[in-house]
Amino acid sequence: MQWTTEQRYTRIEDVSKDEWAALKKQVDCSPWRQTYHIQPQTGLLNDPNGFSFYNGEYHLFYQWFPLGPVHGIKYWYHTKSKDLVHWENAGIALHPNDDFDSHGAYSGSGIVHNEKLYLMYTGNTRDEQWVRHPKQNIAVMDKQGTIQKWEKPVINEVPSGYTDHFRDPKVWEENGLFYAIIGAQRTNLTGCVVLYSSPDMETWTFEGEIETALPHFGYMWECPDYFTIDGQGVLIFSPQGIAPEGDCYHNIYQSGYVFGNLDVETQSINHGVFTELDRGFDFYAPQTMKAPDGRRILVGWMGLPEMSYPTDVHGWAHCLTLPRELTIENGRLIQRPVRELQQLRGVQMETSADLCDEMQTFDSFSGTAFEMICSFELDDADSCGIEIRVNDEEKTVIAYDALEQKVHLDRTYSGALADSKYGSVRSCSLAAEKVTFHLFVDSSSLELFVNDGAEVFTSRIFPSKDSAGIRFFAKGGRASCQAVKWTIGA
Ligand code: FRU
Repeated sequence: MQWTTEQRYTRIEDVSKDEWAALKKQVDCSPWRQTYHIQPQTGLLNDPNGFSFYNGEYHLFYQWFPLGPVHGIKYWYHTKSKDLVHWENAGIALHPNDDFDSHGAYSGSGIVHNEKLYLMYTGNTRDEQWVRHPKQNIAVMDKQGTIQKWEKPVINEVPSGYTDHFRDPKVWEENGLFYAIIGAQRTNLTGCVVLYSSPDMETWTFEGEIETALPHFGYMWECPDYFTIDGQGVLIFSPQGIAPEGDCYHNIYQSGYVFGNLDVETQSINHGVFTELDRGFDFYAPQTMKAPDGRRILVGWMGLPEMSYPTDVHGWAHCLTLPRELTIENGRLIQRPVRELQQLRGVQMETSADLCDEMQTFDSFSGTAFEMICSFELDDADSCGIEIRVNDEEKTVIAYDALEQKVHLDRTYSGALADSKYGSVRSCSLAAEKVTFHLFVDSSSLELFVNDGAEVFTSRIFPSKDSAGIRFFAKGGRASCQAVKWTIGA
């Protein structure tokens, strides 16, 4: 279905309850509804926003177009949780119904200040000529959960030198000042980030562009984030317009990080190489927060812009990733599923096997929603791995190729195809004698943590409900494997 501009800009307030209920009914019948991931009730979800801890709860908002699987007029939808595992839908947080966000309440972040949760976001507006004018706005949530937008934008104009692609403020506090980093496009159509400061969240001063060693790296940097872990600065951003290179950058847009400490005085960052955060097919626009116990936690959008997905015909699209804890170990960023997720563990099963150029299945090792940790020790096998969500026609293959020293994720036969224009295999290098695959599988997704978070592959897959088999294999020689699996949900 082609969506007209008018349809994309139809607000949920303007459709009847019956119309929305009919859409919801259609969505509820989708065979690919997730069982333990944050997903929209209807329509399209994209970036995580305002991820924070306030008043005893985690708050996680997301970009939402309620009326269909397209990027229409965006709302902020609010979910909250006491444990990062069980999330409660808390309703629409920001409606795009003011002059300063008339064409969408776009992405932004949250920070606790004066015992309230401050949400700083981009108001997307367009004039009569359909020219975009981004505004940076603030809304404040109190302990009762009431959210009040401020009457005027705090940053009304785009500074000279940048186009109207200027959005996604991420706020933090440092030495008694607030800083906001904003994704931008220079007038020469290259991407960058800029820095603002404020003593009080009200008055914001443009400090300047952050000087990096990547002056020509794509045409727009979306959703920047900056934080430190044990004193090491990390700048995350989602650049658009990067060409594939070896195993990297194969999705339409990328998300990655550089290590480097941002000097707010000189607005510069002396940093290392840009590294992709995730090796899978569906990961974009992540956002982090600092948990009360000091952990740095990341959630991403398990989807990408401008792609079609098999759930489109069911009236919805996308979900968020599980929360991951970030650490820096031996100079590398490590991502692990947060330990709270162990609460989801149901029935436990274990198995082990010596495999010799063969494929094996084990009784009761099957499922469509589960967690599994599976370790391989390679003897003389060329490759080893697992196949999940298997039936006679379908399989999703996770393999370690010892000859190439690479991990591969192959979703060619995973079921219905997400947009296959960008290929159906993802790979990354990994030199190891022992390989551990830690998987979280849901009705239509796979999050694969390799070797204790050294690499992550996040992907949607769209198998039939009866594709529940799990197989273990070694090719060209011997490998031994040990697996433990927990059911999740029913
Ligand atoms: C990233 C993004 C952001 C923008 C939002 C709009 O996916 O394009 O830059 O604020 O989505 O929904």
